[in-house]
Amino acid sequence: MKKEDFINLLWENNIIPQKKVVDLLDSLKEEDLDIIFKEAIKNNVKIIDEEFINRIIGKNINNNNKENVEKKENNVNKKQNKINIKDFFNIKENKQNIEKESNNVILIESTKKHIGEEIELSVKEMKETKEINILKRFEIQKNKPDIISWIAYYKQRLDKIRKILKEHSEMKSIYPLNKIPENEEVAIVGLIYDKKITEKGITFVIEDGNNVVKAFVSKDNENIDFKIVKDIPLDSVIGLIGTYKNKMFFANNVILPNVPIRKPKTLGEDDAYILFTGDWQVGNKYTFYDLFDRFLQFVNGKTGNEKIDEIARKIGYIIIIGDVADGVGVYPEQKEELVLKTYEDQYKSFEDYILKIPESIKTIIIPGNHDIPRLAEPQPELPRSLLRESYSMKNIYYLSNPSYVKIHNSIIGLLYHGYVLDWLVSNISFLRERGGYENPGELMKFMLMLRLIFPSHGSNPYVPYINEDPSVIEIVPDFFHTGHIHRASYDEYRGIDLINSSTFQDITPYQRELGHKPEPGILFLRNIKNGEVLSVNLFNFEIRKLRDKVI
Ligand SMILES: [Fe+2]
Repeated sequence: MKKEDFINLLWENNIIPQKKVVDLLDSLKEEDLDIIFKEAIKNNVKIIDEEFINRIIGKNINNNNKENVEKKENNVNKKQNKINIKDFFNIKENKQNIEKESNNVILIESTKKHIGEEIELSVKEMKETKEINILKRFEIQKNKPDIISWIAYYKQRLDKIRKILKEHSEMKSIYPLNKIPENEEVAIVGLIYDKKITEKGITFVIEDGNNVVKAFVSKDNENIDFKIVKDIPLDSVIGLIGTYKNKMFFANNVILPNVPIRKPKTLGEDDAYILFTGDWQVGNKYTFYDLFDRFLQFVNGKTGNEKIDEIARKIGYIIIIGDVADGVGVYPEQKEELVLKTYEDQYKSFEDYILKIPESIKTIIIPGNHDIPRLAEPQPELPRSLLRESYSMKNIYYLSNPSYVKIHNSIIGLLYHGYVLDWLVSNISFLRERGGYENPGELMKFMLMLRLIFPSHGSNPYVPYINEDPSVIEIVPDFFHTGHIHRASYDEYRGIDLINSSTFQDITPYQRELGHKPEPGILFLRNIKNGEVLSVNLFNFEIRKLRDKVI
């Protein structure tokens, strides 16, 4: 079958090919695609990665195509797969016209695979208890995605980030792309539709719904860090300052939306800790099950070590950042690694653990890509049907991935499982140079710089919202908590605490192939009143101070 039919079929069967695999499809024969699809269905595979393809067609496509991939990385051109939002905006709000025009829009094959049967219509804002205010979480309402949702999606992103960019002192008067005066220094904002890196610099093709403009940034420009600028992903929104001449914008500065430089840390009233954990992977044979007992010993203040138990008694909140269960059919050969082979058994076991957390501790749980909700982000909360007892507990909160919460009436957290971190490591070369998987803080900083959780079309499975682009980080958090790559990491960026919270699982053969270097068994604690940050190693209950008290 043809590549397009292959991707369509995957989409229809809820099978997700990894981004790298999509890049490599051109090199495969049509008969190979037939076989791969049949095998994926036969084996109930939900994600197709290189290993799966290698196994099926019996050759290492990675080596054969390395050159091809590198070329693509330097000259990203996805016109054939991409909606031009200018075309969308020109359609305006007339639904009749939109439906007529939509026949002319190439509805992105690479997008189709990410579109589920439902789209989201609303963002729920609500206040619950005194201690945890849920600032934003995402709900799902079933509906068919249509062209309007795509218009709205990109328009929301552009509008929201333009608003953020306006806050920058250099970006006060922003010209729309169809009204840029020539030969004078001005500021413009656009969504990156395409980019081309040459020896002299980079040319961005940006758009804002009014026009499409080419903008050149020299690699010798002293105002910018070219290593970062060349890696800004497609579909990000950037500000440019420069001069428009002969239909080309010559930029002398590139402004990323970024987060503001913070004043002193946000602190709350009481001497209590927020505990950060995640990626428990219940059900897998590589999971360290004795760590659950040690975790429960710790949070119940029963380690027998008075110094440690005293800290534990101050835990007011626990955040579990997804992949609480190992799931079923998440990757090839997972079946052989499961000791609990059904979701029911895995969540039953998970629930038994969390019900042993003291009721005085508020526990927030979001899903990850191993969990049962759909893979497309935002992911809805874990299902009540499998977790009835814990759902009835007043101290347990099941939220979507991502979510924003305000804890103890003071500390704002952005909770995101972290699926996109894999994409950032594979696609952003300066992040790999800064350590890749071994330096999650840098990955998280880049997301904050772009003010996008999932920056680029294809960076993760996602679905469009009508009234919201859920990837835009509109609320500046006090802490940003991710997991997924099993690396225990604490960092800071512009006053924001960046925590990637370890795992309870040993390295699996699959993770070894992906290049993960897990650090299991670590918990992080952040004090609400004095800002102190600690790590606790569950293997030996060793406590380390990562940041002193701020006051
Ligand atoms: Fe994950």
